[in-house]
Amino acid sequence: MVSRVIPVEPFDLVIFGGTGDLARRKILPGLYRRFWKGQIPAEARVIGASRKSMTNQTFREFARAAIGDFAIQGREDESRVESFLRQLSYVSIDATGGGDWDGLRSALRENTVRAFYFSVGPDVYVPLAERLHRHGIAGRDSRIVIEKPFGHDLDSARDLNRTLAQFFSERQIYRIDHYLGKETVQNLMAVRFGNILFEPLWNARFVDHIQITVAETVGVGGRGAYYDKSGAVRDMVQNHLMQLLCLIAMEPPSRFEPDAVRDEKLKVIRALDPVPESDLVRGQYVRTEGFQGYLSDVGKDASLTESFIAMKIQVSNWRWKGTPFYLRTGKRLKARTSEIAVVFKDPPHSIFGEYTGGSGNVLVIRLQPNEGMNMWVTIKEPGPGGMRLIKVPLDMSFAQAFGDDGVHVADAYERLIMDIIRGNQTLFMRGDEVEAAWAWTDPIIERWSLRGEKPHGYKPGGTGPDAASTLLSREGRRWRELTE
Ligand code: BG6
Repeated sequence: MVSRVIPVEPFDLVIFGGTGDLARRKILPGLYRRFWKGQIPAEARVIGASRKSMTNQTFREFARAAIGDFAIQGREDESRVESFLRQLSYVSIDATGGGDWDGLRSALRENTVRAFYFSVGPDVYVPLAERLHRHGIAGRDSRIVIEKPFGHDLDSARDLNRTLAQFFSERQIYRIDHYLGKETVQNLMAVRFGNILFEPLWNARFVDHIQITVAETVGVGGRGAYYDKSGAVRDMVQNHLMQLLCLIAMEPPSRFEPDAVRDEKLKVIRALDPVPESDLVRGQYVRTEGFQGYLSDVGKDASLTESFIAMKIQVSNWRWKGTPFYLRTGKRLKARTSEIAVVFKDPPHSIFGEYTGGSGNVLVIRLQPNEGMNMWVTIKEPGPGGMRLIKVPLDMSFAQAFGDDGVHVADAYERLIMDIIRGNQTLFMRGDEVEAAWAWTDPIIERWSLRGEKPHGYKPGGTGPDAASTLLSREGRRWRELTE
């Protein structure tokens, strides 16, 4: 199947933190892949900026290595790589201090889309925004792109929103949550709102419960200092899992347009009940043979930070009252897998009797790996042995359905960067959304720090603390298997 690629208009993209890890792993390889696919015009320019002193040529070599290591397609196409590299240049600038701001201003073209990617630490967001404004580099049509974490609680997020608003309007600010750029996450909206099939069943009358799982096999090693101050709730729940929950739970927006979609997501966050302590399980991985424990990973003797969390959430509105949403996410688990499972209720009456097998349907949306969806349905087991029922998946893996393009599903960053250039904010978080998400998570975090309780220990390579299983089993439910 051939996918259509519509080129974007020419742009100047300045990446602050242009020699950092995100630029190396995601931004530069992602841009290259879009170029290779024919989406980036020859007049577009990518300008790396950082404190390091570097020539254009050294920056291009850095980008060449990044493409070699991380581009998911096209890296062997040397002449294309060369053409792409020619569109790259570099300025040395200290985002919090002096440097060649005038040089940067004069390097940018008039009447061209300008985007500034803040791939820098959160403490640099404000000084950078202020300098772009003061030096007349970012005009009314420029866009700024801000990574998470956007604040570390409600107050800091509010402050950041307020300060950025002095220099930029909301339609210029692109707050990235890379989960919104994942192929399957958008497919979730396509499935819900592009089909008549699901919507009538998408409510508490027919859905027993929903599970959202983002499990990782990696630990926090290498990012220990950051992670230990955040924990799973700040690092994953307040943003990524919350966004997934919103897309599952929201009402149909009237149009697939930025504010229409974001208004509906915001309503979901505001409808979330506070979570009682009995509906929360926190875990921290311990040391076992072959694996360092969390404490060694963060280099501390003691820490109360959670590397795992499971929670039961109630959405208090007409559609969802009575259908729990179970969320779990953690590091050092047995599989790297992210999925959403919509578990439907059993049919009201079984005409086949009680012991024939089968039962309710489950729609599973797999974010990664093996992006795709499957719908578990009950059918008759083949053979002459009578009416025995089994559940089988109607499986749609993107790799099978879309061939090569399915296997190489675009990285979230590729899609989001192209949306920034197009000026489409649908997949970016609005300021009020981020604040509402903090308003909901703050009390959870505050309660824990007041109680000072240790998270449950769990062994690396498993499914998290036992208490996480009990959270569901006490209600006669269970988590889906963690498999890749
Ligand atoms: C990041 C978190 O936002 O998302 C990391 O800070 C996490 O801790 C990562 O590992 C997961 O992203 P992905 O795309 O690999 O699921």
